[in-house]
Amino acid sequence: MTTMTTKTTKQTKQTVINRRSFLGTSTLAGASLAAGSLFAVNITENTKKLKVGLIGCGGRGSGALNDFLEACKVLGIQGELVATADAFKANAEGVGKNRGLAAERCFGGYDAYQKVVASDCDFVLMATPPAFRPVHLAAAVEAGKHCFIEKPVAVDPAGARSVIATGEKAKAKGLAVVAGTQRRHMADYLRNKAMIDAGAIGKIKGGVVQWNGTVPWIKRRNEGESDASYLTRNWVNFTELSGDHIVEQHVHNLDVAVWFLGRLPLAAVGFGGRARRETGNMFDFFSIDYDFGDDVHIHSQCRQLAGTYQHVGEMFTGTEGACYGGGKVNGKQVTIPAIKVDTDNGMVQEHVDLIRSAMTGQPLNDAKSIAESTLVAIMGRISAYTGELVRWNDLVKNENSPFFNLACTPAAIDFESGPIKLPAEVPSVPGKA
Ligand SMILES: NC(=O)c1ccc[n+]([C@@H]2O[C@H](COP(=O)([O-])OP(=O)(O)OC[C@H]3O[C@@H](n4cnc5c(N)ncnc54)[C@H](O)[C@@H]3O)[C@@H](O)[C@H]2O)c1
Repeated sequence: MTTMTTKTTKQTKQTVINRRSFLGTSTLAGASLAAGSLFAVNITENTKKLKVGLIGCGGRGSGALNDFLEACKVLGIQGELVATADAFKANAEGVGKNRGLAAERCFGGYDAYQKVVASDCDFVLMATPPAFRPVHLAAAVEAGKHCFIEKPVAVDPAGARSVIATGEKAKAKGLAVVAGTQRRHMADYLRNKAMIDAGAIGKIKGGVVQWNGTVPWIKRRNEGESDASYLTRNWVNFTELSGDHIVEQHVHNLDVAVWFLGRLPLAAVGFGGRARRETGNMFDFFSIDYDFGDDVHIHSQCRQLAGTYQHVGEMFTGTEGACYGGGKVNGKQVTIPAIKVDTDNGMVQEHVDLIRSAMTGQPLNDAKSIAESTLVAIMGRISAYTGELVRWNDLVKNENSPFFNLACTPAAIDFESGPIKLPAEVPSVPGKA
């Protein structure tokens, strides 16, 4: 077996919108605008300045904003932050201040997202804990905004189905929705996906995907702090806000599995547990067997435990070789089209792709794919929490399944109506003694 050869083309940093591709789709864009969105009409290949709003001004939110503004530079256009929202006003103001935004355009509270979507922004970036994504995305699409949604996009089946439905609305309105699954925008992953599709490793027969890492940060409860505030600050330790780390973090690797295989699992059986986590109600580790049908199984492993072996990645074995995520491919020589990216930074490239697609009237729409990958992760979590086999159809089709309407509470909407009650800080325990 030989290592594959391929061609990666890095375009110039000053790549500009391709006029021919814009003109070629203008009729399509016109049709979708007639279907409801007045906003997309304001963004064309000739737009010189893009206005952006941010919901969720924490670590990734400020990172995503930087990436969006960097993407504007890559495309040779101006980007301007026009509104921020965060559950905590100080966070919204902190990010705003760094970008010269007036304090009155920085909104605080659980309904602050409504002010951002009602603002004059063209794009909304969403980087709150994932439990809020379905509601925020629905509001942004309703308001006619192009959207960047951080992964994952839900914590329960109903939330994921809502994102799929909102994605359809976005499509009808000609709005772009791009997810923060940066691997799908990185040249090495794009190359390996193209090689697999070209038959480099034959038919995929199995694989393993892993996010074995360390403990996340912990936010302790302050004296007299409300349940809502504590839960919001310490969200990475609560299933209700994060989906558990199989969803919040490991969704990246599960997304690669679904993307590379080109299909969804039929069922999941798995287990997990908790040994050392000090707060919240999540597991420390999961081990899930995903049955993709046709005798293909993918083993998913994820762990958040300090002082243990750490590895993040994906590996697939095929009838004629193997592929390591975005790394080496051992298999047959194949020819694939040149892979074109504007930057080696996948987290900037995803914004370049978002913006370009909106400006050229060919909006990308990742809503379904990221909602499905999120649901694959949720499927594994449900199996581990309940000790049951969970079928894909139990989550998307079979309304009589106890899992179909399984909902995490408090839900996003409860935070807006408040007050909310803190879930018990104990993990699920499946089975019987
Ligand atoms: N693509 C990636 O590689 C990547 C990396 C890190 C995080 N993420 C994702 O980004 C999201 C945010 O993660 P983070 O690390 O920035 O967390 P964070 O805690 O640093 O930031 C979250 C922010 O959202 C705010 N917030 C919470 N609820 C809100 C609400 N209802 N309305 C408005 N603001 C609210 C919080 O106050 C906080 O400022 C998560 O979905 C996470 O999984 C993605």
